[in-house]
Amino acid sequence: MPLVSLQLERFRCIHEATLGFDNRYNLIVGANASGKTSLLEALYFLGRGRSFRTRRLDRVIQQGQADFLAVGKVLNPPVTTVLGLRGSRGATEIRVAGATATSAAELALHFPPQVIDPDVHKLLEEGPTRRRRFLDWGVFHVEPFFMDAWQRYHRALRQRTAALKTGAAGGLGAWNAELALAGELLAERRGAYLDLLGPFVADIGQRLLQAKVELAYHRGWAAGVPYSQALEEGGERDQRYGITHLGPHRADIGVRVDGLAAKERVSRGQQKLLAAGLILAQVALQETYTAGRSALLLDDPAAELDPENLERFVDVVRTLPVQLFVTSLRQDLPGFGVPGAMFHVERGVVRAA
Ligand SMILES: Nc1ncnc2c1ncn2[C@@H]1O[C@H](COP(=O)(O)OP(=O)(O)OP(=O)(O)O)[C@@H](O)[C@H]1O
Ligand SMILES: [Mg+2]
Repeated sequence: MPLVSLQLERFRCIHEATLGFDNRYNLIVGANASGKTSLLEALYFLGRGRSFRTRRLDRVIQQGQADFLAVGKVLNPPVTTVLGLRGSRGATEIRVAGATATSAAELALHFPPQVIDPDVHKLLEEGPTRRRRFLDWGVFHVEPFFMDAWQRYHRALRQRTAALKTGAAGGLGAWNAELALAGELLAERRGAYLDLLGPFVADIGQRLLQAKVELAYHRGWAAGVPYSQALEEGGERDQRYGITHLGPHRADIGVRVDGLAAKERVSRGQQKLLAAGLILAQVALQETYTAGRSALLLDDPAAELDPENLERFVDVVRTLPVQLFVTSLRQDLPGFGVPGAMFHVERGVVRAA
């Protein structure tokens, strides 16, 4: 479902832009600080309801302005769906097909963007939060109902944590039961998803790094133990500290390269390639479910990779039937072919070339 157009107002340095896109390959060219990443960020916002650069809404609103506006049209023949976002200092209003949406997930069902930017290595380098988000995004696109299981689990977790903090009499039994049920379901869906993702990671890992790349799933509590039992056994410790120590909210994905933890095995450049490979694997898997639906945003891919690695990376990207938005300092970006649409950005002004 390609994005056919974007109308953007007061977003970072871009005061106003109305753009029509190619359904295959869009190249965004401009000097440093011209507004290239800002445009990708707006596209990401349109599908995810948030930025990939900041958690603060006021940062993306153009300086001195009160709000930003982004309206995109997504084509799923014969239907065109209008996605609309208005971000003000307080909140983001989302509209999908003329109706107010209650969650950003509604945007993603129409326009699911993935981004690979110079910070991509953080997926491997930082703590598990990013990896859990990566995992949950993947499960959600294979099974949209996963969202309900996710919310149910986190609601139960909040309730149990509140009971721990107030030291509620009557024990944790009732909270444990609901949490265990929701937690088992969540962990099981994540595990099933990673089983599907594994072969894609192995294939793309081989092509990018010429190495054996494997994922290990840590579901957040000991293997072979029912979650209800883990909660019960950990109850005393949880009460002492007022938090739930074990469960899917502590899940993680381990990444191994030729049998060793990725962090110990690979260079910084390879780490970027590997993290990008995980995202590409996720897109490749997603495309087997809903072909031609994903959008891939590549922020300056030529900046971080040497020519040989860039070629390998581009070779993988080109096999994916996604809508591409690529930024570059130069318009002759090697490997990607001839863009269907090209944009020049200069001091926040975007022009179709
Ligand atoms: N809220 C804002 N309002 C106005 N301008 C902003 C805002 N936030 C950032 N900018 C400015 O927008 C400009 C463009 O930033 P952006 O990151 O999009 O550039 P870029 O083209 O990706 O550059 P590079 O090639 O260096 O990555 C910068 O000069 C930045 O200071
Ligand atoms: Mg940039």
